[in-house]
Amino acid sequence: MYKAGIFKGRRALVTGGGSGIGYEIARQLLEYGAEVFICSRKPERLEAAAEKLREYGGPCHTFPLDIREVEQLEALAAFIREKSGRLDLLVNNAGGQFPAPAESISPKGWQAVINTNLNGTWYATQTMANHFFLPQQSGCIVNIIVDISRGFPGMAHTAAARAGIDNLTKSLAVEWANRKVRINCVAPGIIQSSGLAHYPPELVAQVAKTIPLKRLGSTTEVAEAVLFLALSEYITGETLYIDGGSRLWGDVWEIA
Ligand SMILES: NC(=O)c1ccc[n+]([C@@H]2O[C@H](COP(=O)([O-])OP(=O)(O)OC[C@H]3O[C@@H](n4cnc5c(N)ncnc54)[C@H](OP(=O)(O)O)[C@@H]3O)[C@@H](O)[C@H]2O)c1
Repeated sequence: MYKAGIFKGRRALVTGGGSGIGYEIARQLLEYGAEVFICSRKPERLEAAAEKLREYGGPCHTFPLDIREVEQLEALAAFIREKSGRLDLLVNNAGGQFPAPAESISPKGWQAVINTNLNGTWYATQTMANHFFLPQQSGCIVNIIVDISRGFPGMAHTAAARAGIDNLTKSLAVEWANRKVRINCVAPGIIQSSGLAHYPPELVAQVAKTIPLKRLGSTTEVAEAVLFLALSEYITGETLYIDGGSRLWGDVWEIA
């Protein structure tokens, strides 16, 4: 899709890069020549993923952490500094949620989803911006959110968190533009990836029929959009939907 070696010399961090969408983003970045860091909570899964990823290029470094913990992100920034000296691209992909009618979401469940998807994404963004992008006067951030164009009935907590990131992206795009830091979002619809294992298969099959393009998206398609935004020097503060048209038409799923 892109010119061979187009990411040569660039250093990229992909949170949640050990599985699903994040893995494919890391894989494509490596294939196009980037040096890649992947991080997430489970060290074994991360290392197993990195071993496979190194077949596509390299180097690929791993760092186990929880994006909700600022001290751990600080340690990751120090690790990146030691290994590469700089960072050019942050892909905030780590995240997760669970389907639940809004009235039944417990305070603990609500806080877990907000803490990961809103706070964790912000902590990663602020840490990497302060350590690398702002002092370097260059850098790019791509946030993976969710298709929230019509809210997300059945997953109100994640929609609230992702809407926060969507809006934060616009503020930061303007605040950091004069320091040559760009920030954009990719909003996937329903994507065939490991994340779908958390949802009942009958629910997923039901959703596919309602998508105008009549199929789920692929991790390849989401990753290509991330690379496109990383390369597009005149796009900032934007959200790109990769959803087969589902933001425009069709029920997401039947609400209990
Ligand atoms: N699949 C879809 O249809 C879809 C649609 C729209 C948006 N998304 C979003 O796209 C992203 C990737 O989804 P996916 O489908 O590839 O699912 P996935 O395989 O479950 O990916 C989530 C990744 O995030 C990591 N992670 C979760 N919480 C973390 C934390 N607190 N700290 C650090 N890492 C954490 C996980 O690794 P550990 O468990 O090891 O930490 C995992 O690698 C998620 O944000 C998801 O919500 C997915």
